[in-house]
Amino acid sequence: MRQSSLVVVANRLPVDDSVAPDGACEWRRSPGGLVSALHSLLQHTPATWVGWAGGTGPAPSLADIDGVRMHTVPLAQDDVRDHYEGFANSTLWPLYHDAVEQPVYHRRWWEAYQRVNRRFAEAAAEAAEPGAVVWVQDYHLQLVPRLLRTLRPDLRIGFFMHVPFPPPELFMQLPRRAELLLGMLGADLVGFQRPQATHNFAQLATKVLGLPATDRRIAVEDRVVRIGAFPVSIDMSEMEALAGRPDVVRRAAQIRHDLGDPQQVILSVDRMDYTKGIEQRLKAYSELLVTGHVKVRDTVMVQVAVPSRERVEQYQVLRERVEREVGRINGEFGRVGEPAIHYLTQPFDRAELAALYRAADIMAVTPLRDGMNLVAKEYVAARVDDGGALLLSEFAGTAAEFGQAFLVNPHDLEGLKSILIQALQASDADLTERMRAMRDHLRVYDIRAWARSYLTALDQSGSLVTQLTT
Ligand code: ADP
Ligand code: G6P
Repeated sequence: MRQSSLVVVANRLPVDDSVAPDGACEWRRSPGGLVSALHSLLQHTPATWVGWAGGTGPAPSLADIDGVRMHTVPLAQDDVRDHYEGFANSTLWPLYHDAVEQPVYHRRWWEAYQRVNRRFAEAAAEAAEPGAVVWVQDYHLQLVPRLLRTLRPDLRIGFFMHVPFPPPELFMQLPRRAELLLGMLGADLVGFQRPQATHNFAQLATKVLGLPATDRRIAVEDRVVRIGAFPVSIDMSEMEALAGRPDVVRRAAQIRHDLGDPQQVILSVDRMDYTKGIEQRLKAYSELLVTGHVKVRDTVMVQVAVPSRERVEQYQVLRERVEREVGRINGEFGRVGEPAIHYLTQPFDRAELAALYRAADIMAVTPLRDGMNLVAKEYVAARVDDGGALLLSEFAGTAAEFGQAFLVNPHDLEGLKSILIQALQASDADLTERMRAMRDHLRVYDIRAWARSYLTALDQSGSLVTQLTT
């Protein structure tokens, strides 16, 4: 077994197995913010990524991807059902997102959560060389830091939560709240997207575990665990380079042409998830069609909604509702060859996404709650022409960085409609000024700045930071 000085541990590997049309298995990049952020960061570093490849049964052995070693963790059917679909995505995910859907608890899911976390900790312990840095990611693996510290006290262990960390009123509902907190506190540094999440965590450490805590440090047994906010970002220069490529520019023009050369294109790109506010957005658009504020020939909507967590009931229900609503709106307002909503559920490669971003006058990102939302950052990075408008939910972590976006409360339907009209009617000068300010911000706070700030706090020797961020 080859060992690495940097090991990233995440439930998901950056690739996912999917079945090609001819029945063969093909590997493609998994959609989702965690993979987007870490994949661009780790490329060409001798790191190991410990994660699950998306199927059940024995772990496939995967070749290195862009120089990064893949260490697959096998999950059996009951692990996927009870850990991934169960405790991670039916208990923690809805609870951490303001309980916008009802969290579900089953005792057997907790058994699976512990079992799978143990398996990930053992895999990380195998893959890490003596004194290595191990960076554990997200809500699926909250017990790993503590388990790993017991197995390998020589390691420096970081934990980063990509999703929101909820206020005590919500977190206190969790039957296994103390174990989850203690698990995270096995790390040397626990990072969150927003200062509010850090504050929630510190409060809970005191309330549930009786530990002395500030928003910077928590004392646990004989150690001090540091905590802090490190807003994740994207590879700005990679997206800029892509969006400026002549073939991508041509493709963007082609997309507009294929859409019927409308005056305005509204785009949304989401995983099909109830946190993303897809239904609220469709409702706002359809009410504007009813009142005649927008007309299909002038203003079309493109909704990309790649299916996600498809065996979880809440996701199945959402997909049915979204598809029924898209069908209704197209039936009522479309004409032959002229649908009101162009609805796409396919995964796209990065160049096609960049072309879509460049083709869109308005990017509508309206989640009900989101840890960060990298789609919003990708759109801003892709607008090398300083054009386009970003409509952004106040409840996305990104909103704290993009004050120049058209900010909106997605629960407020009238507010959503009026901000959409405002964005549609904004002058070019106004849009350019807003976009430039957001682009200036992103240029400084890109993925490398995120890694630099987190890893400097974690790895005081500084060698990893230099390796990853120069
Ligand atoms: P989340 O992590 O909740 O999915 P983010 O907006 O932070 O939300 O990240 C989503 C990531 O998935 C982005 O990098 C986006 O480009 C990617 N993505 C979304 N939809 C697709 C799609 N249809 N094809 C390929 N990548 C996608
Ligand atoms: C969010 C989570 C990630 C997850 C991604 C995609 O970004 O924070 O941990 O990988 O969604 O979800 P999936 O269930 O497909 O891994």
